[in-house]
Amino acid sequence: MNIEMNDARPAEAVSWRKRVSSLKHLPPVLKMVWKAAPGVLMCSLVSRLLAAVLPITLLAITRKIIDSIYLVTTHQRSLSRGFWFLVALEFLLAGVGIILARLVDFSEKVLAERYTNYVNIRIMRHAATLDLTSYEDPQFYDKLERARVQGADRSGLIQESGQLLQEFISTVTLAAGVYLISPWILCALVTFVVPAFLGETHFAFLGYSLNVQQTPARRELDYLRLLGASKESAKEQKLFGLGSFLVGKYKAVSDELYRQNVILSRRRLLVGSLLSLLGTVGYYGTYAYGIHLTLIGALTLGTLTFLAGAILGASNSIQALFSTFSHIADHALFVSDLIEFFGVQPKVSSKPICLAGPRPIRQGFEFKNVSFAYPGRSRQVLENVNFHLEPGERIALVGANGQGKTTIVKLLTRLYDATGGQILLDGNDLRDYDLESLWKEIAVIFQDFMRYDMTASENIAAGRIEEKENSFRVRAAAMKSNAEEVVRKLPKRYEQMLGCRFSGGVDLSGGEWQKLALARAYLRDAQLLILDEPTAALDAKSEHEVFERFAELTEGKMSVLISHRFSTVRMADRILVLKNGTIAEQGPHCQLVNSGGCYAEMFELQAAHYR
Ligand SMILES: Nc1ncnc2c1ncn2[C@@H]1O[C@H](COP(=O)(O)OP(=O)(O)O)[C@@H](O)[C@H]1O
Ligand SMILES: [Mg+2]
Repeated sequence: MNIEMNDARPAEAVSWRKRVSSLKHLPPVLKMVWKAAPGVLMCSLVSRLLAAVLPITLLAITRKIIDSIYLVTTHQRSLSRGFWFLVALEFLLAGVGIILARLVDFSEKVLAERYTNYVNIRIMRHAATLDLTSYEDPQFYDKLERARVQGADRSGLIQESGQLLQEFISTVTLAAGVYLISPWILCALVTFVVPAFLGETHFAFLGYSLNVQQTPARRELDYLRLLGASKESAKEQKLFGLGSFLVGKYKAVSDELYRQNVILSRRRLLVGSLLSLLGTVGYYGTYAYGIHLTLIGALTLGTLTFLAGAILGASNSIQALFSTFSHIADHALFVSDLIEFFGVQPKVSSKPICLAGPRPIRQGFEFKNVSFAYPGRSRQVLENVNFHLEPGERIALVGANGQGKTTIVKLLTRLYDATGGQILLDGNDLRDYDLESLWKEIAVIFQDFMRYDMTASENIAAGRIEEKENSFRVRAAAMKSNAEEVVRKLPKRYEQMLGCRFSGGVDLSGGEWQKLALARAYLRDAQLLILDEPTAALDAKSEHEVFERFAELTEGKMSVLISHRFSTVRMADRILVLKNGTIAEQGPHCQLVNSGGCYAEMFELQAAHYR
């Protein structure tokens, strides 16, 4: 993986246009925040508003108090009537300020939690609608990763948006105070603070673009970390002595990432400090000017105190305003990944007006001159495939690895759409059916079926999740697939946690997992059953049993079975032989054996092994 980069490049990598355009994603995010928790958001906003006008109020009170004191001490006037009231008010407001800060803190924590949950759930929902193609595309994976890790956790964004509002109001009120006393002082303040703002934004964008470039490398790190400590890889890792190789690979990549990050942080430290110092010069310069005005009698002592406080407050809050803004722009870039992810739409989808899956299926499925190439590939996996699967018929697909058997299943189940030709179901194009109702009629167990780290019962119920509480049906399905035998041996039976991920989980053998997977297919009340070599981990005898049972259970139903074993395949009513992306021969077992074609040849070869 190439993670080398020129240190000056990230600046160009994210263009200004992208920086500015990423801000347009803020409103949708704020809308999501609002949707996630409207009440909490209001509470936080009101607290922020009140907290924002507090500094100027406190300064105005202080100014009055100091001027009164000055009059009493130097001109021997008597204390005004409201004096002690002002002191008490200042004290009270300071207390209110502390409570408001706590309230803001609390509501933003709650808000962040709610928002994160809300977005994660939306991500899961959206991810479930996407095409299989998307998952097989590494670029999409990067996007999903960034959306998941960085888009969902935007507690900083929520906090900073609130802060921005508060700082903005503070700045405006304090600046207005300064302006009323001297417009020049305000001008000088703003001039000194702008460079710090530009610096902050610049580095925020550099950080983002570095992060984007590092995503593939981070994905590799995740993979290596998983590989270095997973059940699946442990055996090979030990025996092949791969441990130090993996550690070395991990270290090389992570060291490079570290180096890039440190270089950027160092530059940020240097430039950021210089620019902040400039801001400080602005503050003290204008403060000195205020002192000068007081000494020549142009300002009262109270006004000087007010001015000093307002200058300090304004310059701090202008600086904070700018840096908060640049942090928000930084967040906005990450958020754009999230919004883009939500924008990815599935290509395989139901039409607005579509047919419901037919029940019962009367004419079956028909492939008419079907061709297919995987997205982004030029090689045709299937070319002019023609066959008919009639109701009640059991067909078998045979062919060497990589001939396209699984691809046919993916087309039949509309996980992909054919790139040429047509697939018909009961005479209508498969694309005219509503996807969900079509999938209801099909049960498939793939070669790489899932092993859910959940209970045995849930593993079976996954085939028809709305029946998960129906233990009778779950058991009946388990009986059909012989999973009942497996479950009976488990300490907690159907409630037994399976897999090694969670404590108390029991791992099963490949064959036992397969029986559970088969039960899923039987639980599904489908009209078409497909078994795509799910029995690869079984010995010849067990596979034969599984398929014999399958044949019994699918009597009168449509089914497709894919296997390399001829003892199994011969049970099918008709066998399709796939060769070079097309159907080379088809017919019942006896006929194909007698015809002396490639099926007969393969059959002879396998039979010879057993003799
Ligand atoms: N997601 C994919 N993207 C690109 N090519 C693929 C993908 N899946 C399978 N292929 C290719 O399509 C061909 C047929 O694969 P497959 O249908 O899985 O074969 P079979 O099930 O007969 O072993 C193979 O050459 C394989 O490399
Ligand atoms: Mg396959």
